[in-house]
Amino acid sequence: MPTLVYQSFTHTDGELTCDGVSVAAIVARVDTPVYIYSARAMRDAYRAIDEAFAACPHVIHYALKANSTLALVRLLRALGSRVDANSGGEIQVALRAGYEPRDIVFTGVGKTRDELERAVALGVGVINAESAGELDRIGAIASAQGRDARVALRVNPDIDAGSHPNISTGLKVNKFGVPLTEARAMYRERRSRAGLRLVGVHVHIGSQITTADPLRKAARALASLASELRADGIALEHVDVGGGLGIPYEGRPMIGPAEYAEAVLPELRPLGLPVLLEPGRAIVGRAGALVARVVDTKHYPDGRQFAVLDAGMAELIRPALYGSYHHIVPIRPRSGAESPWDVVGPICESSDLFARERALPPLEVDDTVAVLDAGAYGSVMASNYNRHPLPAEVLVDDGQWTVIRRRQTLDDMLALEQ
Ligand SMILES: Cc1ncc(COP(=O)(O)O)c(C=O)c1O
Repeated sequence: MPTLVYQSFTHTDGELTCDGVSVAAIVARVDTPVYIYSARAMRDAYRAIDEAFAACPHVIHYALKANSTLALVRLLRALGSRVDANSGGEIQVALRAGYEPRDIVFTGVGKTRDELERAVALGVGVINAESAGELDRIGAIASAQGRDARVALRVNPDIDAGSHPNISTGLKVNKFGVPLTEARAMYRERRSRAGLRLVGVHVHIGSQITTADPLRKAARALASLASELRADGIALEHVDVGGGLGIPYEGRPMIGPAEYAEAVLPELRPLGLPVLLEPGRAIVGRAGALVARVVDTKHYPDGRQFAVLDAGMAELIRPALYGSYHHIVPIRPRSGAESPWDVVGPICESSDLFARERALPPLEVDDTVAVLDAGAYGSVMASNYNRHPLPAEVLVDDGQWTVIRRRQTLDDMLALEQ
């Protein structure tokens, strides 16, 4: 199975470059830790998905939760992407990036009344409701505002996405959506409810999905619900298959956009409705790296050796949260035999570990390393734990690089406190 393989971060003449730009040169000016993104990788990944679905009317709503740094959102907007926002904050980011409310899909479990009132008042493209209760609240809010809210119901098809349990969302034990078996009745009961326009159906079964089968099954379930609803006289305008396409963190073969489209389009095309997609990770995941400095090395008598970085779970929590794998490469690999290293962060938690017994060339204090494929669910999940300032972010585009978010200062951090 082919994978999406454009590689932005490669070694050229013994040093890591991002699309030809020296990572060491960026670090020399911006310091570490720093997230570096490749505009080219984002564009390529976006286009690969767009092209894979070309045979069917479709709209890509980039999932802001994966990474909502403004410059990256603007880059995607320039490509024609729309957005999937998961909170009032993400809606604000989308508007700040230049989106019209109609370009926004508002998803997410636990939307507050304030968020719903604002989304309805703005007239967002569609609100994906997570429960019958939420649908009713949206209807009441919209009626009170003298409007109709465009809504879809997120269904939970009880399908195993085959990914990590913490990022599987389509099983009946998960908090997301409404049981598929109850969705039809929920729609029928609200067919002519004041304030509601039932325009779509929505599913999202999880993230980092690497095989076609769960995605196909989810699309089939959604298509069958959509057919039933149309038979009930509900004038659907789209089906929304969510996000979830994974990336090959470990380099193993997995599906790419083409196989994804091949799996779901035969299920969806007969409906003749536009397909909404909400990819996040597949667009931005491979485009980003977290670059950090080795601040200490430790060599235990039993042979175990640690490289302690100036970035850890505060900057990139995925390994601590899901035990997830990221390739790690030195910016300027030293010559000498590879040996196993535990690559860890400076945070006071043993789960603050990027890699266990990873074969790496010799490492010394002040060396810099890149944690690859960190563009998605990296910087957005960063925290101030242990009072770490949020890292700087840099975008490399067409041989140039720009700081797209300056490093947080301690004053920024303390500005909110008495
Ligand atoms: C509703 C919804 N849509 C889209 C996404 C994006 O998923 P991914 O980044 O795996 O494409 C998520 C993330 O889990 C989600 O919850």
